[in-house]
Amino acid sequence: VRVAVLISGTGSNMAALIDAGQAADSGYEVSLVLSNIEDAGGLAIASAKGVATVSIPHKPFGKDREAHERAVDEALRAAGVEVVALAGYMRILTPWLVRAWEGRMLNIHPSLLPLYPGLDTHARAIAAGDAEAGCTVHLVTEGVDEGPILGQARVPVLGDDTPAALAERVKTAEHGLYPQVLTSFCKGLARA
Ligand code: GRF
Repeated sequence: VRVAVLISGTGSNMAALIDAGQAADSGYEVSLVLSNIEDAGGLAIASAKGVATVSIPHKPFGKDREAHERAVDEALRAAGVEVVALAGYMRILTPWLVRAWEGRMLNIHPSLLPLYPGLDTHARAIAAGDAEAGCTVHLVTEGVDEGPILGQARVPVLGDDTPAALAERVKTAEHGLYPQVLTSFCKGLARA
């Protein structure tokens, strides 16, 4: 299954997805990494791993979010992409793109959804006194961070945690969870 990973920044989840996809029995390969930020750190990492990259900055499209998404969609189709994995892609999608990839677009979110959709998840988990935190891979639907949950991983919240320390622990869990969920998702598609 041909997968595109959409990023805006560091791309550590993207790197984990590429690496796992290169294993013989993964059932998917990352064939494109696409970013809305031209100098996103993840693009160089993807290139170094031999994966095609493209950046489609949103700025030139101004307020026309859908026009930017049509350009993104065109690049995905041109690359023969079948599944899209959002990994730190910091754009809220319009219903148009969500519908275009319905049932074939995944996202990873750094909380145990339905807890803490949106930003600052780790600070919110610490402020609430939660004993555990984690991450969620879900299908993308029109409501932000609301789609059907495909998998979760849990980590403890420690007594002296800062948001940064907790974020790092959750990130490590993300790097295990996302490739695992994408692998079984793509195997399911292949069987269908
Ligand atoms: C991750 O914490 C992910 O859950 C969130 O954005 C962050 C991306 O990090 N959606 P990276 O670019 O994969 O390192």
